[in-house]
Amino acid sequence: MYKKLDRNEPCWCGCGKKYKKCHEAFDEKLIRLEHEGYIIPSRDIIKTPEQIEKIKESCKINIEVLDYVAEHIKAGMTTEDIDKLVYEKTTQMGGIPAPLNYEGYPKSVCVSIDDVVCHGIPCDEEILQDGDIVNVDCSTEYKGYFSDSSRMFCIGDVSPEKRKLVEVTKECVQRGLEKVKPWATLGDMAQAINDYAKENGYSVVREIGGHGIGLEFHEDPFVSYVSKAGTDMVMAPGLMFTIEPMVNAGKADVFVDEDDDWTVFTQDGSPSAQWEIMVLVTEEGYEVLCY
Ligand code: MF3
Ligand code: CO
Repeated sequence: MYKKLDRNEPCWCGCGKKYKKCHEAFDEKLIRLEHEGYIIPSRDIIKTPEQIEKIKESCKINIEVLDYVAEHIKAGMTTEDIDKLVYEKTTQMGGIPAPLNYEGYPKSVCVSIDDVVCHGIPCDEEILQDGDIVNVDCSTEYKGYFSDSSRMFCIGDVSPEKRKLVEVTKECVQRGLEKVKPWATLGDMAQAINDYAKENGYSVVREIGGHGIGLEFHEDPFVSYVSKAGTDMVMAPGLMFTIEPMVNAGKADVFVDEDDDWTVFTQDGSPSAQWEIMVLVTEEGYEVLCY
């Protein structure tokens, strides 16, 4: 999988340095880990410094779009109104909403209320009500680079139960983030998230997870939040992915709406929450690129 370069050749990452002065030790470490049975990232998903700079510009837009939603979201609005806010703000800043026409998705953003786990499609008929918990999931393409993050919003007077779900889910992301460090595994992060959700009596959705991102909207690896510590891909510096657990107040089971083929609901009708951040594994630990 890793093409062996001559030590004096320019490094594959495009930094201009010789291979031996740049990624040689990195590659040797990964090859050693692979021999020990770990899943290692392929070279094409390890981001170079130039790519990281460009991806950060995309992230900056995504953050501003979500800030803009945060300023305006309120009871009485339709989910279509949120779609308009996202489309207008993103395009004003020179970006393209990544969901629009992605695998046939018809809108610019996903808006998921209460027992909708994710991929809620904005429409004119759906009105935000006092007491709703709402996930707004924004993704931006800018100059060919991708960003993705989502936040929860509590509309008006939300029940203590739902508010707790929102807060615990946010803390799940934080617990997972604390496990992001070079040469740990994605499973270390997943287990921290799943353990904290379970401690609070909640369950984490299994079938849908996070993903690599940057050069594409969705890249390898698939990021589970129910896998065990020590399993799944090794977090090599330069790996970029989302942390976006979907946490259900009830059981973990979900189903997809048969009519639109997108909207995911909890099977038992219990509320579900999700926060999403985008992170980069660095030599020292992590960097949060988007939230
Ligand atoms: N933004 C979602 C994610 O976090 C993906 C939505 S795909 C779409 O991965 F087509 F529904 F937008
Ligand atoms: Co995502």
